[in-house]
Amino acid sequence: MLRLLRDPSLIPSEKLTTLSNIANLAETLSMSCYLVGGSVRDLLLGRPINDLDVIVEGDAIALGKKLVETYGGKLTPHFKFNTAIWYLPESTDFVDLITARKEVYEKPGALPNVTPSTIEDDLRRRDFTINAIAVRLGGEGFGEILDPLKGQADLGRGVIRALHPKSFLDDPTRIFRAIRYEGRYSFSIVPSTVDQINPEALKVLHSLSGERIRHELDLILDEGHAALTMLRVASLGILDVIHPKMPEFAQDWAEYLEMDMQLDIPADRRTMGYMLWFMDLSEEDVISISNRLDFTNELTLSVWAAAQLKRSLVHLFGAKPSEWTYALEKLPLLSIYAVYLVSRENALLSYISIWRHVKPHTTGDDLKKLGLQPGPRFGEILLSLRSAWLDGVLSNKTEEEELLHKLLSTHL
Ligand code: CTP
Repeated sequence: MLRLLRDPSLIPSEKLTTLSNIANLAETLSMSCYLVGGSVRDLLLGRPINDLDVIVEGDAIALGKKLVETYGGKLTPHFKFNTAIWYLPESTDFVDLITARKEVYEKPGALPNVTPSTIEDDLRRRDFTINAIAVRLGGEGFGEILDPLKGQADLGRGVIRALHPKSFLDDPTRIFRAIRYEGRYSFSIVPSTVDQINPEALKVLHSLSGERIRHELDLILDEGHAALTMLRVASLGILDVIHPKMPEFAQDWAEYLEMDMQLDIPADRRTMGYMLWFMDLSEEDVISISNRLDFTNELTLSVWAAAQLKRSLVHLFGAKPSEWTYALEKLPLLSIYAVYLVSRENALLSYISIWRHVKPHTTGDDLKKLGLQPGPRFGEILLSLRSAWLDGVLSNKTEEEELLHKLLSTHL
């Protein structure tokens, strides 16, 4: 493991220094600490790591405070679980410091009761064998692997295996996690763990809050293989459990999630995913699913707008550029782009890239200078000028001035 820990293509040197600093300080406090979870799994798979999760046999918040005293940065403690996030100074990096613990789930799907414990217990409380491997930090044993649940063997086999038969009852969000790892690593969930996605576990999943379910769907949409992963979610009968009107996520949309937009629109993969997914639903179903998944108002509006626009396309076919522009102007740009992707209606792209920017040379100030009092006529005249530009009636400033004078004389 030492070789992997020292491989700069997997772990940047600053992260390694951070781990050594934590280990050294923990030693002075007679605490043992370990790197665990996703970063160990990814290192062993030869993949670069992101987040650092450090388990402390001892008080993680006390260690965090000491780290801030010694190295600076900021600490956000969470007293309920005795964990802390240490934000490093002058960096966007942070480390999760977690007191080694045992968990007891008193009610399926609810958050667990926790008591401080050992690294072994901490590994046992986790979701899958591949996520239950620890690497010792500090002391003589720096880099030593602790793998009591045989996670390395499962990594080698490419399988996802729950640690105990009630894992999905305790926390049904793990069902999504298992499916996410399958897609990401091209692994497969072992049959005995698939069997645990049974009606009892799905019932608990059904009772989860919209926010928790949406968070899991967000994470799937972030993945490179989101569309395939969503197919697996559907094939395991999970969509209906979330909401009876949830449609399947079409494979054709996979490429649309990889938006490499040259267009000047803020791209958001999750919003795009939900818009594509729910675009063909009725207004009523869009609202009902948005409520179930606890969408923000902004996300609901984006999805709703995409669905409305797709439905109204048939009435817009053959319309003039100005008509397209005024119909589209109040809709979120990303919704328009999503409808373009599925319909390939060129007017939508023309609106995004050209028409929305078209403005007449004449401004309200110019109209005032011509002696016009501000009022609804202002807007009407400017709109007529803009429409004339959009629809190709005007091609230069002189033509615009001529039209303006015509409009002023008819409006007088
Ligand atoms: N974990 C768990 N049960 C959950 C969530 C997390 O047991 N419902 C444990 C796993 O050991 C996991 C670790 O907490 O490895 C960290 O969780 P998280 O950061 O969500 O996942 P990662 O393993 O880092 O995976 P990813 O790469 O998808 O973020």
